[in-house]
Amino acid sequence: MSHPDHATIDLAVIGGSGLYQFPGLEIATRHALDTPYGAASGEVLVGDFAGRRVVFLARHGERHTLPPHRVNYRANLWALHSLGARRVVGINAVGGIRDDMGPRAIVVPDQLIDYTHGRLTSYCDVDGAEVKHIDFSAPYTESLRQQLLAAAARAGIAAIGGGCYGATQGPRLETRAEIARMKRDGCDLVGMTGMPEAALARELGLDYACLALVANFAAGCGDEAQISIEEIFAHLAVATAQVPRILAALLEN
Ligand code: HPA
Repeated sequence: MSHPDHATIDLAVIGGSGLYQFPGLEIATRHALDTPYGAASGEVLVGDFAGRRVVFLARHGERHTLPPHRVNYRANLWALHSLGARRVVGINAVGGIRDDMGPRAIVVPDQLIDYTHGRLTSYCDVDGAEVKHIDFSAPYTESLRQQLLAAAARAGIAAIGGGCYGATQGPRLETRAEIARMKRDGCDLVGMTGMPEAALARELGLDYACLALVANFAAGCGDEAQISIEEIFAHLAVATAQVPRILAALLEN
């Protein structure tokens, strides 16, 4: 297993629910990385996509065996960083809270609120580590957000710019009361994997943005009395099919 030339990695992509492989990626090397923080979710794939060097990691494992609260976010980000990635796009399945963020919408959020608990949220947890207080006023890298939105526009794919991502613990979906509270808090989207990923990326100095794919209206937001997992995955498949075109347009520039 040879190591890729670090200088050549153009983009890292973390695939969420529904994106376990990267269509169009011509895989050159596979890396089963054991980091100081433990094992990543699975093999990190390095390959060519749209004429560029891209690394890909399935957040939940290639067969979706890791629930959101058991993902080793620290190992995942560390692995991508150690392979030479400098910018990361996290693909996240979400529920829509805001009216215009219904199933199949694609959103590049600009804010987040963390409702998760009990996760390992920092590289500073280790004895002797330097204590870093990262600025997190803007949790996503603005330039990368803008590049993603411009890429979607060039690809002719509608994407909504801005919105607040509320990160919940999962793996269960939320109650209507929880979503009503999140709405009052200012959340537009709800997902289970946005944190601590974004904060860890910032600690490592990586550029990071979230491409959120709306799978369903969050509890109490649509007409449905209940949320069906089959529908979630059906909508997700439609939105996910657009992702390679957005990322190809991102890499063109
Ligand atoms: N809630 C939390 N996470 C999600 C949802 C939801 O409704 N849909 C997809 N991921």
